Amino acid sequence: MRAFVTGGAGFIGSHLVDSLLAGGFQVTVLDDFSTGSRDNLAHIPSTAALTVVEGSVLDAPLVEDLLAQADCVYHLAAAVGVRRILDRPLESIRVNLKGTENVLEALKPGVPVLLASTSEVYGKNGKGALAETDDSIIGATSIRRWLYATSKAMDEFLALAHHRERDIHAVIVRFFNTVGPRQTGMYGMVLPNFVQKALKGEPIQIYGDGRQRRNFTYVDDAITGIRRLMETPDARGQVFNMGGGEEITIENLAIRVREITGSKSPLQYVPYGCAYGGGFEDMRRRVPDTTRLKELTGFAPATPIDTIIARVADHFRGASG
Ligand SMILES: NC(=O)c1ccc[n+]([C@@H]2O[C@H](COP(=O)([O-])OP(=O)(O)OC[C@H]3O[C@@H](n4cnc5c(N)ncnc54)[C@H](O)[C@@H]3O)[C@@H](O)[C@H]2O)c1
Repeated sequence: MRAFVTGGAGFIGSHLVDSLLAGGFQVTVLDDFSTGSRDNLAHIPSTAALTVVEGSVLDAPLVEDLLAQADCVYHLAAAVGVRRILDRPLESIRVNLKGTENVLEALKPGVPVLLASTSEVYGKNGKGALAETDDSIIGATSIRRWLYATSKAMDEFLALAHHRERDIHAVIVRFFNTVGPRQTGMYGMVLPNFVQKALKGEPIQIYGDGRQRRNFTYVDDAITGIRRLMETPDARGQVFNMGGGEEITIENLAIRVREITGSKSPLQYVPYGCAYGGGFEDMRRRVPDTTRLKELTGFAPATPIDTIIARVADHFRGASG
């Protein structure tokens, strides 16, 4: 079996590659190393059944060529991270829309594809635990943050349309905050940022009042979940929330990080406007209802937040990868 992973040199992608290789797959990765890195795959022996192709999902002939040999496809490549989306909106839209279209167009009927979407698709819907059928409440187009959610929502429509009209076996996964070693803090991800600041003894910056609640799931748990979905024919043509780890306020996350790393870093509260410019909008609460995922696959994340923080800290200390 040959698996094709776009974005396989990224954070989630590289852990997925580890899991697929351990499961006996031959793996081909397509990545442009824009937010991912060769270092994320450097621990894999050169004798492993892994081919890494440097290139873009925007290169339609290349995507078509690589996909021709695939038995299953994980499409993770995307423009991600609040900071990158705000700084490079045009490129972000192109990668998220055109890149996904290229992958879906190149697929042959019957080859299953798992599309990485995001909890951001729910937008400002703060009703509590969010189910896949709940409304998306997206802000104004003048607020650039929403282009990520909107482009991913459009990807979902596209995948569902290919499933319906071309018999493409698409499974859509909305990742909630997925965390673990190899996640970079460079594009605005909260946990790696907090841990790096704590390890350096620098102020841990909390945006807003810190009372916003988030749900954190360990990357290896999420990989178990997506691999089960890929292997479940009944999952095809459906959308799934992927998450369900521990819910915690951002302020408490900072406190836990400080305790677990033994840091003396002060906590510093930064208004959203100072962090991201005027008009930035954030959600008070973001938690998934994972009933659909649990009922179909029996999956539930197992790793507590304190263990996750310790592993991320080990990673940054260079103790593990
Ligand atoms: N980590 C999370 O909490 C989270 C949450 C919601 C959704 N997601 C989704 O999961 C997927 C993986 O995210 P991640 O957290 O691993 O981020 P990541 O940035 O580590 O991974 C994205 C990968 O895609 C690659 N890439 C970007 N543009 C590309 C292009 N044009 N061609 C080829 N490769 C390209 C990057 O170099 C990177 O390796 C993304 O689709 C993201 O939207 C992640």
